[in-house]
Amino acid sequence: MKLIEVKDYQEMSQVAADYLLSKVKTSQDLTLGLATGGTPKGLYEALILDHHENKTSYQHVSSFNLDEYIGLSGTHPNSYSHYMEENLFKHIDIESKNTNIPSGKAPDLEHECEEYDKKIDSYGGIDLQVLGIGSNGHIGFNEPGTSFDSNTHIVELAQSTLKANARYFDSIDEVPTHAITMGIASIMKSKEILLLASGQSKQNALKTLVEGDISENFPASILNRHANVTVIADEEALAMVKGLELLNR
Ligand code: GLP
Repeated sequence: MKLIEVKDYQEMSQVAADYLLSKVKTSQDLTLGLATGGTPKGLYEALILDHHENKTSYQHVSSFNLDEYIGLSGTHPNSYSHYMEENLFKHIDIESKNTNIPSGKAPDLEHECEEYDKKIDSYGGIDLQVLGIGSNGHIGFNEPGTSFDSNTHIVELAQSTLKANARYFDSIDEVPTHAITMGIASIMKSKEILLLASGQSKQNALKTLVEGDISENFPASILNRHANVTVIADEEALAMVKGLELLNR
């Protein structure tokens, strides 16, 4: 794992955007894995700004999102589909036929999961996967206890995740209890991974990621077994991590 330590959220977002843009500008054909949540919003803002200022094109880019709530339609304001549209897609020139998000309203959700993995494979896999990290170590919506062998699947969200995500809803009772998420194995198949973390709420998660054991009880720990992971984290998120050099091995 490589670490890029940055000062704050703004610098994390800009460094991540520069990293992504270097791939977008040099590839003929690029498949990105995209994340939602508060963490990548600044990254997406920086990409939009660059698109307006420098006209970087996304015509050759495809994307697969990590996850979606079950039961919310793509137009629901809290769906990840709506999030991606509002926070990135509608502001750049990526073609909507090239953007993929699992449907949380599919009539046959198991089938939706199988097809999602098949579709990723048909694109030759994900070249660069952007990840945030949940305070309990979840990646995508893979909660503690998820098998490292999991493909795209349906999950019941942990109570701590419902609480953490309640800020986007009117009340915690409105947060969907289930989601569809790319699995740990699906994520690990990505050729490269960029994990972003900012702020105090991620301190414990980063400490466990760097210093803890590799265990299904802390899903993100599997990233220690991936050959090409870069963590971009700010000073606050890294405050509890001892031995930062461990990250640059
Ligand atoms: C959410 C998402 C994850 C995200 C994580 C952290 O529940 N499913 O993909 O990385 O939790 O969210 P945030 O970036 O808002 O802290």
